[in-house]
Amino acid sequence: MLRSHTCGELRLSDVSKEVVLCGWVQTSRDLGGLTFVDLRDRFGVTQLSFNMDTDPVMCEKGRQLGREFVVQAKGEVVERSNKNKTIPTGEIEIIVKELTVLNKSVTPPFTIEDQTNGGDELRMKYRYLDLRRQVVRKNLELRHRMAIETRNYLDKQHFLEVETPVLIKSTPEGARDFVVPSRMNQGQFYALPQSPQTFKQLLMVSGFDRYYQIVKCFRDEDLRADRQPEFTQIDCEMSFVEQEDILNTFEGLVKHLFKTVKGVDIPEMPRMSYADAMKYYGNDKPDTRFEMRFTELNEVVKGVGFKVFDEAELVVAICAKGAADYTRKQLDELTDFVKRPQIGATGLVYARYGNDGSIKSSVDKFYNEDELKKWVKICNAELGDLLLILAGNAEKTRKAMSELRLEMGNRLGLRDKNTFSCLWVVDFPLLEWNEGDTNLLASLAGRWVAKHHPFTSPKPEDIALLDSDPGAVRANAYDMVINGVEVGGGSIRIYNKDLQAKMFSVLGFTNEEAQKQFGFLMNAFEFGAPPHGGIAFGFDRLCSLFGGADSIRDFIAFPKNNAGRDMMIESPSEISEEQLHELKLILRQDEVKKN
Ligand code: AMO
Repeated sequence: MLRSHTCGELRLSDVSKEVVLCGWVQTSRDLGGLTFVDLRDRFGVTQLSFNMDTDPVMCEKGRQLGREFVVQAKGEVVERSNKNKTIPTGEIEIIVKELTVLNKSVTPPFTIEDQTNGGDELRMKYRYLDLRRQVVRKNLELRHRMAIETRNYLDKQHFLEVETPVLIKSTPEGARDFVVPSRMNQGQFYALPQSPQTFKQLLMVSGFDRYYQIVKCFRDEDLRADRQPEFTQIDCEMSFVEQEDILNTFEGLVKHLFKTVKGVDIPEMPRMSYADAMKYYGNDKPDTRFEMRFTELNEVVKGVGFKVFDEAELVVAICAKGAADYTRKQLDELTDFVKRPQIGATGLVYARYGNDGSIKSSVDKFYNEDELKKWVKICNAELGDLLLILAGNAEKTRKAMSELRLEMGNRLGLRDKNTFSCLWVVDFPLLEWNEGDTNLLASLAGRWVAKHHPFTSPKPEDIALLDSDPGAVRANAYDMVINGVEVGGGSIRIYNKDLQAKMFSVLGFTNEEAQKQFGFLMNAFEFGAPPHGGIAFGFDRLCSLFGGADSIRDFIAFPKNNAGRDMMIESPSEISEEQLHELKLILRQDEVKKN
């Protein structure tokens, strides 16, 4: 070893020891007679000290060190006169006696400290330098801990970690596939897995009983803060279980992670039906850190001649606690907020329930105080509260109100990153009508598509509705939601060949198409498939939630930007003509002629 200790471990108890440290020069302070250098490695920062009076040669060497030089310093640990209580090594320093520059560095493009002057793009381009920063490194240390504790828990529960292939075949699970041309099978393509779904089900047919894998998944979809084209799942499957068994097992996993990684005790997770989540939060991943549930007002607002409400399919309110004193300006801001094209409301109605008991609304022309009192009552509003009301088409209005609720949650400080509210959303619909989702292939527009995936089991009592009312069929599918983030989702699977074939037919596959794409799975079901089900957690999302960040990028060592690009290695990139020829993605002139 080139060192005796790391830069994070020396303390007062080590005073007078001779040590050797290696690391990067973070900062250097030249105070005339004294020079101090902060030496950094993964474990921390230790101060090196050089004294012009006692060792001018060494001091001169210390002064020559530039930022990010890699050095080896040998010296004696001494107690510092000027202690730094903010770092664990802040009570000692090293009087350097020997100094070796192991490598020089050019000036880095941004400062490598917690508060850096580097913008997003620059830091992505030089991600290996960004990763030297303690704040970024800590995120990856958290990720490591999460992975270890996941393995600990699942191992104790008798899950086996099994690797599944990355070069597979296109399976329509929602998003578009990334495809890889095969040189040896010209004109044919592998697909990168959107998840190991079919393989983990086949492992159940193989009798593996309990499988898990911390696994990369690939989806060619529009990117957002919580979506990357390649991301990691904690993917799991169990045999001989019902939905309750899965919910309990994986509630246990998440509680274990909170306890061991964050020291937080999570109470039993409530279960909410999809129907209730939509009705009360307008969202299938409600942020339950705060109440502000929707109240439907149709019964008390219709029939007085206010056209907007009279013609609306749904009139819905939220009650913002203590916000009756919102100024005109604040209310105008909220109106502008809901009218933004992404939110899509046409306007916002409000009613203030003043501390003096008065009720003033933006529609006083139509509603007298007695009528407004009914609103207050049905919303359980208290003195000082503000009612915010939207109206229109039910689905769109719920969606807009969900956004407004989250915005009010932010404004009222109700979405604390250190508070965790977990729940299960259950009883999802099996299917949804695809009007033309841009994340799906155009050929899937105007068809029923699986809400979760095509292997999800309908609730037995709803199977009869598959032909008559497919939209009403509920699935044995569930999501775990934490603070409004869908951290995981899964389902009980179909394990019967005929039901699986029926499902493909409802999804618009001909028998031949189903056989061609999924014959391997349906055939396997003929060889004694056990009842099974599972779940996959978005590992990056779980990590960012634990780390209190909004973007999963901060928890991925080498992430891609919003355009799906890796700025550091400059990927994706063109490939050579030779490669294109070999893969038969383009033809040579002589081949064109032949064809
Ligand atoms: P699903 O598609 O719901 O289920 O994915 C499981 C979880 O993975 C996370 N996730 C993502 N994270 C980052 N970037 C993305 N692009 C991304 N897409 C999804 C989410 C999500 O809850 N095979 C099924 C699981 C099963 O049924 O067992 C599946 O993949 O947190």
